[in-house]
Amino acid sequence: MDIIFFGTFMHSTKEHSLQILENHYIGINDGQIQFLTDKEDFERLAAKFSYNLQSVRHLKPGQFLIPGLVDTHIHASQYPNAGSKMDLPLLDWLEKYTFPLEAKFSDLEFAEKCYRKVVARTLKNGTTTACYFATIHPESSLKLGEICDEYGQRAYIGKVSMDISSHSNYTETTEKSIRDTRWFIESIKKLNNPLVTPCITPRFAVNCSPSLLRALGNIAKEYGGLPIQTHINETVRERESVLKLFPKHDSYAHIYESFGLLTNKTVMAHCVYMNDCEFDTFKETEAGISHCPTSNTMLQSGIMDLRKSLDKGVKIGLGTDISGGYSASVQAAIRDGVGASKTLGMDKSKSYKPVDFKELFRLATLGGSKVLGLDDKIGNFKVGKEFDALLIDLTVTDSPCDIFGDEISEDLLQKFIFLGDDRNIVEVYVKGQQRLQNNNFLC
Ligand code: GUN
Ligand code: FE
Repeated sequence: MDIIFFGTFMHSTKEHSLQILENHYIGINDGQIQFLTDKEDFERLAAKFSYNLQSVRHLKPGQFLIPGLVDTHIHASQYPNAGSKMDLPLLDWLEKYTFPLEAKFSDLEFAEKCYRKVVARTLKNGTTTACYFATIHPESSLKLGEICDEYGQRAYIGKVSMDISSHSNYTETTEKSIRDTRWFIESIKKLNNPLVTPCITPRFAVNCSPSLLRALGNIAKEYGGLPIQTHINETVRERESVLKLFPKHDSYAHIYESFGLLTNKTVMAHCVYMNDCEFDTFKETEAGISHCPTSNTMLQSGIMDLRKSLDKGVKIGLGTDISGGYSASVQAAIRDGVGASKTLGMDKSKSYKPVDFKELFRLATLGGSKVLGLDDKIGNFKVGKEFDALLIDLTVTDSPCDIFGDEISEDLLQKFIFLGDDRNIVEVYVKGQQRLQNNNFLC
């Protein structure tokens, strides 16, 4: 037995957006959760497996464990712009700020500097799994994979593909995009790290020719079903241009579907302007949504109706969407998701139920794991899953929030989400390996 904790565990299940287990024991062996049990059963298990009771770590009041956070959509290469340059809508913002920044990643030294910072920052903020966009450059995209490997973060890494309608110094030919994508996949595979996976990444239909989209769909299939990520229905202008570019298709979702890009491992960012047929297509193909509320507000893209999307029964996770979103913390996406849903609820009838923090916490953990097709491995503390977890401590001396000692566990979690930050994330575990202790890396 590697680790045993005793204390309070909070996570989500299919049935419960928030399940709180107090006075429980969790046992982790070789990175996997071997048991999660109450006191009575622990004594039986301890006898059965001859556990050393001295090695149990007792959590203190104000401390609890939650699953690691899953960021289903983050542009690692846009991290230098995070927190700035948010004065334009999407298509102008891409032209003026984002493509010129991403073009700089042809310089491997610059790329390494940025990627080290973003991986360190997200891990400190409790992102144990990230689904990253890099840039069109294969070597620097590989560098991002190597850095995740070094830091021990679980990650999907996408070398971006885009062969039309971009700046002349930030575009690729169709052939080069395909060749570089193959090279990138092979190179990531050579890292031989089960936590780091290549992800097929057409930027979006505005920037990809039909032949590139078709080739990328084929490559995903050829490699036995690689994950796929892109953007869809983020803004009205983008949706209109795409439907003009592909006049033979009746919806944006059908465009991606027709090229084999909607699968049970597809992450579709934004989905603000979806029609009912598109939701049906998502359900049929089992494609998932990455909800990015911070970005949707900051780029003035729109407010996704999260309640409606949940009612449609599609898979949904949360994304920071750096740097459309300004924060590298999934906590911020939870907060902004609550705010966006309440804002939308103001205009609706009284029967409309805004999505609460517990449901958003589920999206940030279990929901994200489903969208990435990783829910057999991560997302909650179910026995048999890998132990990706955060030890939260609301009593640290420099805590940004105050507690009064009589809070119920649910309120402690809520305070952490709304008032806490990385100072409260005192330990970070990925697959049972501790990666961070009080903001210091252990790798
Ligand atoms: N659509 C295409 N590219 C991007 C991007 O970099 N950020 C966002 N938010 N939307 C996009
Ligand atoms: Fe994005």
